[in-house]
Amino acid sequence: MSATTLTSTSFFIFFLVLFLSSSPSNADVGTAARYSAPYLPSKCYGSEATEFPSSNLFGAAGDGIWDNGAACGRQYLVRCISAEQPRTCHPGQSIQIKIVDYAASTVSNPSASGTTIVLSDKAFGTIANSSATFINIEFQQV
Ligand SMILES: *[C@@H]1O[C@H](CO)[C@@H](O)[C@H](O)[C@H]1NC(C)=O
Repeated sequence: MSATTLTSTSFFIFFLVLFLSSSPSNADVGTAARYSAPYLPSKCYGSEATEFPSSNLFGAAGDGIWDNGAACGRQYLVRCISAEQPRTCHPGQSIQIKIVDYAASTVSNPSASGTTIVLSDKAFGTIANSSATFINIEFQQV
């Protein structure tokens, strides 16, 4: 094997590894709005406040992931990837949220309608500027 072949082979392997490790395994992209208290009653748990995580990191599922109610209790990793206003996303921040409600029937109105997920104020403010109306997200069920 010549030196040139060896070099290009190792370059090929290097980029192959880079590609495989950077491609998100099963993360999807979508959008997220936010909603504020009152959060109860919720479609998933009625008035059972104990079903809400004490971290206050939770959200309401949009039609795309609601799954006819099966989404209740599912956990998602969520990361802000972009927004209309530059510097809206908090770099390097990701959160794990629990689905506790259905976005179309939350007590308080979401900041935008038709998003993949509606995040609690705490969840939204952790990954992005709280005054944004909606953000683009990467999300993955865990
Ligand atoms: C959040 O966004 C608002 C409106 O765009 C802006 O006025 C404010 O400075 C931003 N806050 C931070 C901490 O970047």
